[in-house]
Amino acid sequence: MLTDTLDRPLRDLRISVTDRCNFRCVYCMPKEAFGRDHPFLRRDQLLTFEEIARLARIVASLGVKKIRITGGEPLLRRDLERLVAMLAPIPGLDLTLTTNGSLLAGKAQALRDAGLRRVTVSLDSLDDAVFRAMNDVDFPVERVLAGIEAAARVGLAPVKVNAVVKRGVNEHTVLAMARHFRGTGHVLRFIEYMDVGHSNGWRLDDVVPAAEILSMIDAEMPIAPADPNYRGEVATRWRYRDGSGEIGVIASVTRPFCQGCSRARLSAEGQLFTCLFATSGVDLRALLRGGEGDDVSGDRAIADAISAVWSGRQDRYSEIRSAQTAGLPRVEMSYVGG
Ligand SMILES: C[S@@+](CC[C@H](N)C(=O)[O-])C[C@H]1O[C@@H](n2cnc3c(N)ncnc32)[C@H](O)[C@@H]1O
Ligand code: SF4
Repeated sequence: MLTDTLDRPLRDLRISVTDRCNFRCVYCMPKEAFGRDHPFLRRDQLLTFEEIARLARIVASLGVKKIRITGGEPLLRRDLERLVAMLAPIPGLDLTLTTNGSLLAGKAQALRDAGLRRVTVSLDSLDDAVFRAMNDVDFPVERVLAGIEAAARVGLAPVKVNAVVKRGVNEHTVLAMARHFRGTGHVLRFIEYMDVGHSNGWRLDDVVPAAEILSMIDAEMPIAPADPNYRGEVATRWRYRDGSGEIGVIASVTRPFCQGCSRARLSAEGQLFTCLFATSGVDLRALLRGGEGDDVSGDRAIADAISAVWSGRQDRYSEIRSAQTAGLPRVEMSYVGG
């Protein structure tokens, strides 16, 4: 089994298929940093679906059990279902997708038919004004809810719904979210606002700790801790005591989970990163398009390169987050894949 210097196995790969997005979420792609003149990747810089599928087969042979397609907004990548159809047959692989839900209602059936099993939809508030302000492109809640329902209807279930909570912005809408999704079978998860990238102007004061969110919910709808689904699960699970479902919290700031992190990330142009907070990646596109060849020995050379990166991995950024780490260069989440 491939493990890193802290004995963590490589189990999970997030693949970004585009660095573009139709939203400008204030905590991810603020308009000031991602304006009209932002240098997004050109089409020829992106990995092709064939290149992505080849890498997916190689990482699966190294022990990866789960692949998440993400971005940017993955449903902006044309014919994404074609990629899903190429990845779904890889044996032993759990395939899922994270989306902002804006295009999901129209795409859910095609994604399901192509072999996708589940989706995670990001939705930060049910309050239309709050949500429109957070996505900053005036996108209405209603259409994301329609996407969630379409996904559940075609069997991309249970749908996970991710909400980033930012102090003073949407924390007052947390309870309404919990009330709405309780009993629907969808699993709502609250995410602490993280200091990814450099453009969102993150401050610790903007973080609403998961413990605070849980106690707010518990006061109205009593909850109890539930066991993790698997080792290294990032969300901590809680179930409603009356049996009406579960929620989760992702406390990456107040309770970092680097110790159990088995995740690597592939940017849309084929850079492999071992941490969301990494400063640089390893160029797998160069190996794919360079001299490594399209055959078994080419695959082996790429597998060796990935193994070398993973076995040398030491990062545990969230555990050592401090004044010293604040100024370090970092890649943006929309680029590296959230
Ligand atoms: C980068 S997005 C990519 C996929 C898709 N566009 C979406 O929004 O679901 C993936 C996830 O990262 C989360 N995210 C982005 N910036 C974040 C931040 N600063 N802190 C915590 N979560 C963040 C988003 O809310 C979303 O759930
Ligand atoms: S969180 Fe997702 S939807 Fe929002 S700007 Fe980032 S990539 Fe786009």
